[in-house]
Amino acid sequence: MTWYKVTEEGSLKNEDIFKAKIGNEELILMKIGGKFFATSHLCTHENYDLSEGFIDGETLICPNHFATFNPVDGSVISPPEGAGDISPLKSYPVKVENGSVMVEL
Ligand code: FES
Repeated sequence: MTWYKVTEEGSLKNEDIFKAKIGNEELILMKIGGKFFATSHLCTHENYDLSEGFIDGETLICPNHFATFNPVDGSVISPPEGAGDISPLKSYPVKVENGSVMVEL
């Protein structure tokens, strides 16, 4: 496991979603209440790119069919209506060091 710099701490506003690529891995970094969280970037319903989604309070919403996820651990809050169970997103450890936001892969 290695820590990678994703962006500068000041480059995101609250409720921003930032898509990053580290090697072959794509992820989204979210800022909520001044804290940063990172998950995989594809919705587990139909692979919609969640960097085009939005944050409402402490919830990540997929704009395609409105599945909702917890940005803290990637867990599913609610699947799309009538879709049945969907898998959680992958969650990545995040830390801020000397003004840089770092993600561990
Ligand atoms: S693709 Fe995200 S809810 Fe359907």
